Amino acid sequence: MNKEVTKAPEELTTAEAKAELKRLAKEIARHDKLYHQQDAPEISDAEYDALVRRNKEIEALFPSLKRTDSPSARVGAEPAAGFAKVQHLHPMLSLDNAFDREDVADFIGRIKRFLGRKDDGEIELNVEPKIDGLSASLRYDDGELAIGATRGDGTVGEDITANLRHVAGIPHKLKDAHPPKLIEIRGEVYFPHDAFFALNKERENAGEPLFANPRNAAAGSVRQLDPNITRSRPLRFFAYAMGAVEGWRNEPKLHSEAMEQLRKWGFAVNPETRAASTLDQALEFYDAMAKKRADLNYDIDGVVYKVNDLALQNRLGFVGRAPRWAVAHKFPAEQAVTTLKDIAIQVGRTGALTPVAKLEPITVGGVVVQNATLHNEDEIARKDIRIGDKVIVQRAGDVIPQIVGVVDADRKGRGKKYEFPTECPICKSAALREEGVAVRRCTGGLVCPAQAKERLRHFVSRGAFDIEGLGYKHIESFYEDGLVKSPADIFRLHRRRSDLMEREGWGESSVANLLNAIEARRTIGLDRFIYALGIPQVGEATAKLLARHYHTLQDWRGAMLAAAKDRESAEYLDLNNIDQIGESVAGDILDFFAEKHNLKVLEDLADELTVEEVRAPRASGSPVAGKTVVFTGALAKMTRDEAKARAEALGAKVASSVSKKTDYVIVGEDAGSKAAKAQELGVKTLSEDEWLELIGG
Ligand code: IVH
Repeated sequence: MNKEVTKAPEELTTAEAKAELKRLAKEIARHDKLYHQQDAPEISDAEYDALVRRNKEIEALFPSLKRTDSPSARVGAEPAAGFAKVQHLHPMLSLDNAFDREDVADFIGRIKRFLGRKDDGEIELNVEPKIDGLSASLRYDDGELAIGATRGDGTVGEDITANLRHVAGIPHKLKDAHPPKLIEIRGEVYFPHDAFFALNKERENAGEPLFANPRNAAAGSVRQLDPNITRSRPLRFFAYAMGAVEGWRNEPKLHSEAMEQLRKWGFAVNPETRAASTLDQALEFYDAMAKKRADLNYDIDGVVYKVNDLALQNRLGFVGRAPRWAVAHKFPAEQAVTTLKDIAIQVGRTGALTPVAKLEPITVGGVVVQNATLHNEDEIARKDIRIGDKVIVQRAGDVIPQIVGVVDADRKGRGKKYEFPTECPICKSAALREEGVAVRRCTGGLVCPAQAKERLRHFVSRGAFDIEGLGYKHIESFYEDGLVKSPADIFRLHRRRSDLMEREGWGESSVANLLNAIEARRTIGLDRFIYALGIPQVGEATAKLLARHYHTLQDWRGAMLAAAKDRESAEYLDLNNIDQIGESVAGDILDFFAEKHNLKVLEDLADELTVEEVRAPRASGSPVAGKTVVFTGALAKMTRDEAKARAEALGAKVASSVSKKTDYVIVGEDAGSKAAKAQELGVKTLSEDEWLELIGG
């Protein structure tokens, strides 16, 4: 390949970079022509990739030299800055995991309980392999592929339509004279094994970095700005579910029927899929697939069990980000033995000291592992893990590698017992352990650079402010150079434009892009804002609950301050009364509000930002949207869980105790004090039938 290129982009002088960009523009244009117009490429795709990448790297280092005929401006259907965002019509969910027979039995038991079924009744399942690839959503409008997107954060993904058009198993048009008006198809894009090995061989010959596994290769290929690169990779697709659907003639009643329809429309559907109606049948399928796994031409990391009846799926709904009607039964983790070279201590956002094993690099299930988590100091003591030991490393799917234990723990000449540090390795503050708690924490707070940096990292992360182009590396160096010390400093960066431009690797256009990306986030929803604060135990789901309950930053802040001051106040009771927020979570929220430096961060941010109000999505026309309801006593027509889930789906808030703010108390049989309390407070009570009538059956 391009032999005359010897210097790395960072080593080029401005004059050399200019000449090199000119040469690359010409060279890439020539190969484009050979490939597209003459079908006679002279170089491999990998070599072509390398040219495109080199051009891009030089442009990133010398943005002012970018040519008007730059290949990066022409390549691909997408703007060079990245992919457009796509909102999924129905969210793309993940799956809960099961690891053994008991977990699967629990899954089936939970479904039966939720539906109020007797123990001996059977629930028909559809069982299928769990493909270890990259999930994608395809939207067909009047039968034509309109948009193909990555999963993204589950709500918003990236538009990769141009790339997905080159994936086998995805029809451009549904084979149907009367297709649905609109349908979202979900499935997995994967890289077949044989093609994966061939690709890596090619990359090795070209001196390019290898893909760690087929899944990374699939992700790397699909997220290419140049669809021609995707076209050169033999990706495939298996459809396994649907999202939104409108106007479907002969709508299927079963998942298996739906899959059959997808197959007829032209999608690839996994041929291993079966029906199973008992726990034993499901587990038989699992065993059979575990045996067959090595012979398949694609990676699977388990099997998925799904309730086959779509009406039941609908009733079962979701908990958090996962459906109640499906579970992934994962294959056991892969293990390997290697030497523990050292134990490093990382300091997290909340000051927690986490020990990390530094390992002699080893391949576990096809991935090179050099670090593994050791959880906490008790874990190290319990397993008596010492530096220099031979240890068993385990990797389970996407889970961070772990140390299972020590090999040959009785051998002579082992190192000395590991002593966990009692001071923070970064800021040297005391690191303390509260009684009954496993973690040791640095007491330095925001004085500790590690904590401050981690909080900033969380602040800009995907579910929080998600500022494009502001990754951890930037945050870290901005922090170290004093440009960004606290979250609000990010929104004051525009005042430091000239400082930014002077930094290595930054030029006029990259600084302008960053500042634009920051401006784009100056207005943010309350849910993301709360999540961004990084309060322990307040993840995205809890932040959403809080935002929907309090609506505005002002109201939330006011209520939290009052609750933090007096844990018997009405505000405290109100917080505790939000369904799914228990005392421990409430405690962490209020601890956050009890710290002066946190209040300062909040105030500082409020000066810079517009925090938008958040309300629960109004299920259109729902008479109970925004209402607070409490269920009490035994219901006859459905279980309490199902009733709660339905109420929430209709936009109601379900609380656990009755207060003046409660709108309805639904009184089942043998209701106790809550019904009495409702009467006392003059809150409207409804029988189960009255409630069902209100919500339309
Ligand atoms: S069903 C609403 N079926 O696994 C549930 N998912 O760990 C939608 N996956 O995000 C998922 N094979 O990307 C389903 N046969 C299969 C699957 C499958 C692989 C992926 C999917 C999902 C992830 C969850």
